[in-house]
Amino acid sequence: MNKNLRKTVIAGNWKMNKTRREAEELIKQLRTNNTKVNIVVCVPYTNLQTAVEGFKGCSVKVGAQNVHFEKSGAFTGEISADMLKEIGAEYVIIGHSERRQYFGETDETVNKRTKAALDAGLIPIMCVGELLDEREAGITEEVVSRQTKLGLAGFTADEVKKTIIAYEPVWAIGTGRTATAEQAGDACGLIRGVIAKLYSKEVADAVTIQYGGSMNANNAAELLAQEDVDGGLIGGASLSAEDFGIIIKAAGA
Ligand code: PGA
Repeated sequence: MNKNLRKTVIAGNWKMNKTRREAEELIKQLRTNNTKVNIVVCVPYTNLQTAVEGFKGCSVKVGAQNVHFEKSGAFTGEISADMLKEIGAEYVIIGHSERRQYFGETDETVNKRTKAALDAGLIPIMCVGELLDEREAGITEEVVSRQTKLGLAGFTADEVKKTIIAYEPVWAIGTGRTATAEQAGDACGLIRGVIAKLYSKEVADAVTIQYGGSMNANNAAELLAQEDVDGGLIGGASLSAEDFGIIIKAAGA
């Protein structure tokens, strides 16, 4: 079972939620010392410092939700990978569908941001996933393959191994409509197949591939049991310590 060789990563994506005071409350409830599953909480930039301090001495790691690809310069409103690293973030979500949809993120910028994150020693969580009309048109495979290939373009095998990929069908995000375990498993398997072709089976077997999209306390166990699903990227349910805790347990903790 190659699944056992990979890191299981359960990551919460708080999106644009929680003031600092609210974040402090939730962080207290989320503190845990779980060593079987890698737990990450990706918070808004304004909560990074609070999260790094709040999770000190426990096993929960902190992530950001985006990063710019340049090291510094005239990019008003942007944050660099070195800035994230310095503050104590260890992970960063890149190319989330909300960024692709609302903020002009492209496969090319996803590629550049992912590279910048790796260069700074951050672990990127690179998101891919098809729109509903793309699934209905039968081109899921094409879309997800293209996003994976372009997102990883120019990476060494070592860089690919360090990159987490999150398969998030856009139609399942925040909609309460989850992909079936089979759909999630198939798409994650497809991504692994793309990596195997581009690099090797050994590289593909080492990459952590998450499912994301309305994962919750009720459906997590079934989704995470899929051979190619190595974790989850969780939005809504990560804002509840109780639900997030159940998902972490479902991941084998
Ligand atoms: P959701 O979001 O769990 O609320 O569907 C997942 C995500 O956007 O990463």
